[in-house]
Amino acid sequence: MSNDSEIRIGLIGAGNIGKVHLEVFEQVKGASIVAIHDAFLPLAEQRAQQYGIQNVHDRVENLIHDDRLDAVIIGVPNTFHAPLAIQALEASKHVLLEKPMALNSAAAKDIVRAERASGKIAMIAHQMRWQWNTIQLKEQIEKGALGSIYGAKTGWLRRKGIPGWGTWFTRNSESGGGPLIDLGVHMLDLALYLMGNPKPISVSGSTFAEFGPRKKGIGTWGKPDWNGYFDVEDLAMAFIKMDDGSTLSLDVSWAVHMDTDNQPFVHLMGSEGGASIVGNSAKLLTEIFDRAVDVPLNQPADDEGDRVRLSRHFIECIRECKTPISSVLTGLANNLIIDAIFESSRSGKEVVLDWNI
Ligand SMILES: NC(=O)c1ccc[n+]([C@@H]2O[C@H](COP(=O)([O-])OP(=O)(O)OC[C@H]3O[C@@H](n4cnc5c(N)ncnc54)[C@H](O)[C@@H]3O)[C@@H](O)[C@H]2O)c1
Repeated sequence: MSNDSEIRIGLIGAGNIGKVHLEVFEQVKGASIVAIHDAFLPLAEQRAQQYGIQNVHDRVENLIHDDRLDAVIIGVPNTFHAPLAIQALEASKHVLLEKPMALNSAAAKDIVRAERASGKIAMIAHQMRWQWNTIQLKEQIEKGALGSIYGAKTGWLRRKGIPGWGTWFTRNSESGGGPLIDLGVHMLDLALYLMGNPKPISVSGSTFAEFGPRKKGIGTWGKPDWNGYFDVEDLAMAFIKMDDGSTLSLDVSWAVHMDTDNQPFVHLMGSEGGASIVGNSAKLLTEIFDRAVDVPLNQPADDEGDRVRLSRHFIECIRECKTPISSVLTGLANNLIIDAIFESSRSGKEVVLDWNI
């Protein structure tokens, strides 16, 4: 591929997030979505018509093996992430894979091996790394504003926010979990990235399901399927230790009786300063003349949005043969931690992460 030729992408999955990718790639220069597939063909056809996509494939294999494509985006239920990502890498396609990377860490390791064997790029779509506040904080952290970060707290506590009750979202075999894999994976990823990617080594955690099994705590995302079922957690709390001695605590819920603001949060504690992101705001915490001082960060007026930056990074990595910042190894870290939280909740013990690939 020459450096100025257009990167041609096939989209697998035309649901909620598929539509987001279609809209965003209209704003990314040098790349376009030219083929689409969804297991529900009429939806793929409808999206193709709306976004002017020339090729609708009725079988996923046809899209994956379409020689005109350089890359695929995978935006389907979690259980299909690993099988489709591996097939696409084996067919020499670069992959932009929706979060969570995989249903569990065994499947995530399969993707890491497939990526290594393919010589192609696989990137996990963690858009929170591309928020304006994350970018500004990361810049300050890299300049040493926080000194050494030894602790962090992160989470996302929804009081009443179970998505798509009864659909694949709440069925463990298809989703791999509840708020941990839906929201926790974002927050773990963001916190570890801002902490400087320390290596997580052990995890203690507990999970609960007090609302979902009773059809309570239902949110507004996704349409419930009352003929379906709920066999995932609706609250999880965990404590994670890193190889550099730093620690991270994680609290996530889809439903909980708590006076919560429903906002994602990360608080970072460093030797020279602190920082926090809560929802769309962010600040640095410092001390002047022994007084605690907060320095708010401001959103640029011309902010083009996290998803545009994320997608441009994917294209840049393909063109420049770079490892994406949300690489398969960072995706694996998230899957390892989430598996360990479930295991720790079952066993009542701390779990040591197995990084052997
Ligand atoms: N990054 C984010 O913030 C974010 C936000 C929403 C969803 N997601 C992720 O995107 C993925 C999809 O979520 P969604 O909300 O778009 O779900 P959705 O249910 O709206 O859409 C999924 C689509 O995939 C199709 N599909 C199912 N199995 C398929 C298969 N084997 N091959 C091809 N198509 C198939 C379905 O017909 C449906 O149209 C999930 O992994 C979810 O975690 C990420």
